[in-house]
Amino acid sequence: MKKVAIIGAGNVGATTAYFIAKQRIADIVLIDVVEGMPQSKAEDFLHAGPLQRYNVAITGSNNYEALRDADVVVHTAGIPRKPGMDRLDLMKTNAGIAKTAGQAIGEFAPNAVVIAVANPLDIIALALLRETGFALRNIVGMAGILDSTRFRYFIAEELGVKPEDVSATVLGGHGDSMVPLARYSSVGGVPLTELLDADTIERLVQRTRTGGGEIVNYLKTGSAFYAPGASVAQMVAAIVLNRRRLVTASAYLRGEYGHRGIFFGVPVILGKNGVERIIELDLTDEERAALDLSAEQVREASNNLDMLLA
Ligand code: NAI
Ligand code: 2OP
Repeated sequence: MKKVAIIGAGNVGATTAYFIAKQRIADIVLIDVVEGMPQSKAEDFLHAGPLQRYNVAITGSNNYEALRDADVVVHTAGIPRKPGMDRLDLMKTNAGIAKTAGQAIGEFAPNAVVIAVANPLDIIALALLRETGFALRNIVGMAGILDSTRFRYFIAEELGVKPEDVSATVLGGHGDSMVPLARYSSVGGVPLTELLDADTIERLVQRTRTGGGEIVNYLKTGSAFYAPGASVAQMVAAIVLNRRRLVTASAYLRGEYGHRGIFFGVPVILGKNGVERIIELDLTDEERAALDLSAEQVREASNNLDMLLA
């Protein structure tokens, strides 16, 4: 059985562990700074095994040494934005956590593929790349599967069809400027543009962009974790089982889509090495302009990283 280490055993980390255990994808270690918390969650998960019919090994630790020999590391450790905190403050705190975690991953799990989850996602992925010293394709960020599954759900709800028959593509940074692509979305193979009028599609696109915020507005003290956990588990399975799935994820660009030096949501083939290949789609002028705008926002934030990690 392969080993997955999850750094941050909070809402997203623990939910990811649940989906991984339930699908018997890999053994799991939960790592968190809160004393006793990852241990308690691991033990609790084990007690549910006889009912949920999984028997993967699950342990908890407050020590980064537990990363040792992990095949995949999922980085969810971070704080959510608090009242009065601007995006830069949040980035500073979460980049600091990623710095410590990245160095520990480099030391204890040098052959792992790393999935960045903590926000701001595309910037934390870059911090983990720098601090682990790993190859570019070994670091990948989770956002595209989540943003796409939200778009899929909203389309299915609108048309009254089975959500799993809907496929959808969302590119760009994980923020309000993400780019849901109707032309690359379909239901049972029929292009979305044949099924819904432009105004309806635009409404669903906007709802996808604000889907994460909608949950935050309800919760007030935190953000989504069921759909994020399911999205991370799908990425973990693609990597540890070498499923070579074509999904959208945040990958380091070296000229693809006209951008370089940033992590950005693009279609990738995900397999045992992480990002096996980046797929470039033909875009209209309007789609490309939206993607460029999103890339500029990610670049601006990425440029702050050196200052934040100093
Ligand atoms: P949470 O607050 O429930 O869990 C975060 C955990 O990280 C806490 O248990 C905390 O003790 C732990 N932690 C803090 N510093 C640590 C360190 N140095 N080492 C190990 N653990 C540490 O938050 P939640 O809901 O799990 O979200 C986690 C992160 O994931 C947030 O940054 C959130 O914005 C992000 N997120 C990203 C998504 C995406 O699409 N990429 C989707 C959902 C959440
Ligand atoms: C989400 O999209 C907050 O990034 C998180 O739900």
